[in-house]
Formats: sequence, C-alpha cells, structure tokens
Amino acid sequence: MTRLVDSFRRKITYLRVSVTDKCNLRCIYCMPEEGVMLKSHSDILRIEELARIVDIASQLGITHVRLTGGEPLVRQGIVTLVGVLSEIPGISDISMTTNGLLLPGLARPLCEAGLHRVNVSLDTLRPERFQKITRRGDLESVFAGLDAIEAVGLSPVKINTVVLKGINDDEVEDIAMLTKERQWTVRFIEFMPFWNNGWKFGERYVVPIREIRDRIMAQGAYPVESDIAQGKRKDEVGAGPAKYVKFPDAEGSIGFISMKDHICSGCNRIRLTADGLLLPCLLSDISVDLRTPLREGAKDDVIAELICKAVSLKPENGQVAQAMVACPGGNPSLSKIGG
Ligand code: 5AD
Ligand code: SF4
Repeated sequence: MTRLVDSFRRKITYLRVSVTDKCNLRCIYCMPEEGVMLKSHSDILRIEELARIVDIASQLGITHVRLTGGEPLVRQGIVTLVGVLSEIPGISDISMTTNGLLLPGLARPLCEAGLHRVNVSLDTLRPERFQKITRRGDLESVFAGLDAIEAVGLSPVKINTVVLKGINDDEVEDIAMLTKERQWTVRFIEFMPFWNNGWKFGERYVVPIREIRDRIMAQGAYPVESDIAQGKRKDEVGAGPAKYVKFPDAEGSIGFISMKDHICSGCNRIRLTADGLLLPCLLSDISVDLRTPLREGAKDDVIAELICKAVSLKPENGQVAQAMVACPGGNPSLSKIGG
C-alpha cells in the first residue's frame, strides 16, 4: 500500500538521498577548482536522521533508495548507513552513484552491509585526461574500484560517462568497447550546462546525445529489445531516460541519457538533500524542510505528512529549458543534490 501518489497519478517509489555535499574530486563540469560552498557540519543530517527519514518514507511506499553526494563514499558512517537501510523491511533496492575512488577499500564492507548496485563515473580511459577532467584523483583507483565491486558481486555495474566536446568526445567508441569484454552498462550522458554558485562550464561543451548514439550504431551496435533486458524491474521501465544498445556477442550494453529526453510523466522519484530538504522535482525549486521538524522532536506521523506534502507538490513537468538558461541564481547544482 502506498500513500505516495502525486497529483498527476504518478506513484513515487524511488528516493535519492544525498549523504554529503563534499567530494574528493572537482570534475570540471560539476564544480569550480576551489570547490563549492559547503554546508556547515551541523546542518548535515546525521546517519540516524537519514535512516529515520528513509524508514518513514518506506512505510509510505518508497522501495528504492539511491545514495549520492557530492561523493557518498567520503561520508563518515556510509557503511553503517547502508547497513541500517538494508534492515528496513520496505526497502528492496539500495544503490549508489560514486566516482569510485574509494571503492577498493569499501566495496566489500558495503556489499556485506547490504548495498545492491553501484553506478560509477568514468569519463576517460586516459590517466592524464582523468587528471584534467577531475582535477585530482587517479584513474587507476577507479579501475581498482570497478574490479573490487565485480569481485564482491555488486552487480549490475553501471558506468556513467559525461561526454564533453573537445575534452573526451574522441573516446566514446573506446569506452563503449569496454562492454564487449565486461558485463557493464556504459551510459553516455549528455552534458548539462549547470551553474554552480555563479560558476559556469558552458554550452559549447555539449555533444547532442543523438550524435553519440549514431556513432555507436555505426560501430555495429543494435538496439536492445526493451529496458527489461537491462535488468530493470517492470515498474521502473519508462521512468528513466536511457535507451539501450549492444554490440553483437558483447557482455554488457550501452545507454544514452539526456535530460532533454526526460519524460516527466514517468517520473517516480523524489530527492533528499544532505541538509534535509525534500525536493519533489530536480528542475523546480519547491522543497519541504524535514530537518527542522526532525530536530524539534516531530513524531513519525508528522514527518510522514511532510513527505506526503512534498509528493503532493510535485509539478507535472520540470522546466528543463528554463533551468538551462535562467541563471544565475536558483538552480540546484548537481554536486549539491546528487544528480
Ligand atoms: N551534466 C551531466 N551529468 C553530470 N553529472 C555531474 N554533473 C553533470 C553535468 N553537468 C553526472 C556525473 C555523475 C552523476 C552524479 O552526475 O557523471 O555520474
Ligand atoms: Fe565529485 Fe561527482 Fe561532481 Fe565529479 S561529478 S566533482 S565526482 S560530485
């Protein structure tokens, strides 16, 4: 039984939780060199607070939680959090989006704590380029991280590749070819020119996702029947913007994601920021504060009502086009809300 049905009859089952706004990288498309203004430590939800919100949300109908950041693995207590979430009866799927750097040490504990799946960002296969794009960190650790998640059986492994004109767009075929040998789903993501605290990484780096898809098709890939073949559950199909293809006899598959293809009518998600705001839609500035009532001692039913309220405020459509041009000011940055 779910109470999380919005005004447009969308059933909300998926909660993205940003566990920190910190990151150990400074990807050029996500953050300025000096980083972004971090929230103060006391504003960030504690592990017990995060767990309590997820628990209450699960009783309302949330079944899938994705942990994001910043970089979720720099959050103290992340393994504990996964462990607590995995004990919540209504939560059947716990996933994470990470840059992978800390996975070599954390893959096993995370898996043992109950994490199901991981998406890892990988924008280049060239070490010097990795340095240039992420401004720190080393590619070797990401590959060690990928090996580690495979070794412990955290699957299916998904790779997120943001394509940037003149920076890594010449590697699209090479990255796609990884799927021939490895059982990975490589997802090419059209770069979104977001503005972060007045800092902008511009429009001229955008490569339309259709061009990427055409290039992969020219290499002999064929469309995969349906998203169900990608291991998606039936109730997830149609929710995401990805379209999948595969090379003949390949182990893995390839997806294409553009925010512009995002179909709001199939949206099943809400987001929780690291400082406790519940956002019903990535592309609107509507939010419901859960932290204040939580810290003022609100009972579960009060928090539950606030979660229902956020869902009831979910707009029919996000304003993608406006979000891209109506800056500066107001737009969420991906590093703050976790993509
Ligand atoms: N455009 C597209 N994707 C982005 N990501 C971060 N910033 C952007 C952007 N401006 C992606 C990263 C990561 C996920 C958290 O969001 O690749 O996989
Ligand atoms: Fe960190 Fe991810 Fe942003 Fe890169 S894209 S700086 S890894 S939050």
